[in-house]
Amino acid sequence: MGDNTVFELRNVNYHYLNEPPTLKDINLKIYSGEKIVILGANGSGKSTLQRILDGLIFPTGGEVLAFGKKLTEENLNDQKFSSEFRKKVGFIFQNSDAQLFSPNVWDEIAFGPLQLDLPKSEVEERVESIIKMLGLEPLRERPPYKLSGGEKKKVAIASVLSINPEVLILDEPTNGLDPRTQMWLVEVLIKLHQAGKTIITATHNLDIVKDIADRVIVLSEDHVIAAEGKPEDILRDREMLLKVNLIGEHYHEHRHGDDSGHGHSHFHHHKH
Ligand SMILES: Nc1ncnc2c1ncn2[C@@H]1O[C@H](COP(=O)(O)OP(=O)(O)O)[C@@H](O)[C@H]1O
Ligand SMILES: [Mg+2]
Repeated sequence: MGDNTVFELRNVNYHYLNEPPTLKDINLKIYSGEKIVILGANGSGKSTLQRILDGLIFPTGGEVLAFGKKLTEENLNDQKFSSEFRKKVGFIFQNSDAQLFSPNVWDEIAFGPLQLDLPKSEVEERVESIIKMLGLEPLRERPPYKLSGGEKKKVAIASVLSINPEVLILDEPTNGLDPRTQMWLVEVLIKLHQAGKTIITATHNLDIVKDIADRVIVLSEDHVIAAEGKPEDILRDREMLLKVNLIGEHYHEHRHGDDSGHGHSHFHHHKH
């Protein structure tokens, strides 16, 4: 293809076995270096779409191209294609427990680079530099399963970054994180984007969209693309956000400065 298209979805449809469609007629191109947010209510199909991008499941209709080549089960059964694809694309699952299996954090982060058959010294260098970048020094010897949710998320991210993928796919990465860890995560994503990575984040958290997207794809509850555009424009479109169930009737994008002066006395219930 020669251009900078990372993914191209052509009329992609998906339904799980004996289930109604989860994705309907999705047409989408994702370019190298973009920060994309896939926004949608629970059940809209965000995770399904990301699994398709990562070649974990395959469209039941239409086709997907990755780096200009068809991303099919057949192609991924080819060792060379598969290892090239897996080197380029890293997926951070919503549930970190599904991703962590090593006896300690150091081994967890080293696992990917060891699979790449890199020299031992380079593996150590990579692991140490990721540990430093993400501030994981105190966790080095800890078994992942004993860590907190936020720490697990950090280690899962580290274990993917150590492969040095071009594309990062993150499924609801801020779910269940405390506010400080959420901020930490957003800053890491901004840094990675500045380093040239393509970042594809699924979320329903409107608060982080502006920071982690330069383009937003909105999935509706009936599993089509409901809107696509710049974060500012998407977040301003209350009618659309309401329709796709991402906000409720009383949502205000800018709470401050919204001093409309009407009292909220109707919320006060006085007992007599
Ligand atoms: N493994 C599965 N088998 C059957 N249905 C599934 C499976 N995974 C997800 N679904 C269904 O597909 C729809 C979309 O799910 P999902 O992609 O997880 O949405 P989201 O990530 O936006 O919450 C939901 O109705 C969900 O119940
Ligand atoms: Mg999901």
